[in-house]
Amino acid sequence: MKPTSDQAERRARLGTERSVQEIVRSDAIPTRAPLDHENSAFLGDEDIPFERYTSREFFALEMKCVWERVWQWACREEHVRETGDYVVYEIGRHSVIVVRTQAGAIKAYVNSCLHRGTKLKESGSDGSSPELRCPYHGWTWTLDGKLDTLRCRWDFPHVDPEKYPLPEVRVESWGGFVFVNLDPNARPLREQLGVLPEHFANFPLEERYVELHLQKELPCNWKAAQEAFIENYHTAETHPQLLRSVATLNTQYDVYGDHVARFYATVGVCSGEFGSELSEQEILDDMLVGDRSLIKERPTLAPGQTAREYMANYLRKAIGDAYKTDLSKFTDSEVIDTIEYNLFPNMFLFPGLSLPMVYRFRPLGSDPDRALFELLFLRPLPSGAAPPPPATPVRLTAEESYAKVPGFDAAFAYVYDQDTGNLRNQQLGFHTARKLGATLANRQEVRVRQLHQTIDKYIAKHRSEA
Ligand code: FES
Repeated sequence: MKPTSDQAERRARLGTERSVQEIVRSDAIPTRAPLDHENSAFLGDEDIPFERYTSREFFALEMKCVWERVWQWACREEHVRETGDYVVYEIGRHSVIVVRTQAGAIKAYVNSCLHRGTKLKESGSDGSSPELRCPYHGWTWTLDGKLDTLRCRWDFPHVDPEKYPLPEVRVESWGGFVFVNLDPNARPLREQLGVLPEHFANFPLEERYVELHLQKELPCNWKAAQEAFIENYHTAETHPQLLRSVATLNTQYDVYGDHVARFYATVGVCSGEFGSELSEQEILDDMLVGDRSLIKERPTLAPGQTAREYMANYLRKAIGDAYKTDLSKFTDSEVIDTIEYNLFPNMFLFPGLSLPMVYRFRPLGSDPDRALFELLFLRPLPSGAAPPPPATPVRLTAEESYAKVPGFDAAFAYVYDQDTGNLRNQQLGFHTARKLGATLANRQEVRVRQLHQTIDKYIAKHRSEA
């Protein structure tokens, strides 16, 4: 029988759940930096007003002060691998073409013709083209952004092509990701990344490739969408099937400045919320890890062997064999645990090997009640191998199940569908509420508060600017 939350809390305090650090230090291949410490923070306990999720005025402020000022991941470098490859990235009303130039550089331009404003490339499109040509009257720019063709030039004596380059958008890269910034005066990307380059030194993301890419429309605000993925507090109620093999109460929440935070949860450990100690064999039998398709058998454990040790060894070999790469240097925790970093405002990175995902959350158009969630699997590249073409995105409406995505594990699809149901009801609840704000847990929901506090800092900084 499931215990009451009070019983579970008491059990957790009594130590039924060891801390993440206690667990990973006692692994057969124990933890290492940067996973060998906690960096928890108390950021306050004020309610978070619901109007931040529903108000068009607040949405406009976010657009002006955050999205038009911040570095945001637009695509992977492999999406624009060859000369002329392009991707259209959109945020709110803004549309940007990211393109590989003749010289091999990556550039980004405002996706609007300097003649009469038409988008040069369609919203959401990608592909390859030798130049950037407007489909309306044919004005054409080189991949370097120079105006190259002006039809009936005799009729435009007032146009000096030298003065009609495509307006550029700032571009920088890290870890194989291409970031853009709409603010020409933005500080370098490195400042926004904070500890990430140091924390990802053991996980070179530029050496991975996109195996799966799904896009899911969500019936909620972009912040609510990501807030469903930054705490384990909801797991006991929303995903009770996970409690047999995921320790939830002890999940570690680390804060690194304004832009970076971390969620660190151990698997192969029964949750204190579950209420009874399971044997290591029972945990192994129910253990949900990212690569279920690679798990051909769940044998009887040897005396003294733990579910974590078995699964880490098994997946280290199975993933290594499947992706022709040597994973012997990775610790047990790096192979099996849920390690999730988020980079303000909307990027989530999972360096671990069994769940090698990346998330992106952004507003869908300019509607505060809708968001687009994207999930990519980034698999390790066999050493020396050329990366295969990135997976084509599979788009799901708000009503469609994640189970429709080819190659997406059914048990994980069920977990994500459970989250979608919550998000629809939460957004509707924001609109009907009489208590007008969210009351957050100090520890487990600290990353929700960090998100809002950083938004407020951007608003305070940029609100008065033209
Ligand atoms: Fe682009 Fe006319 S609007 S060429």
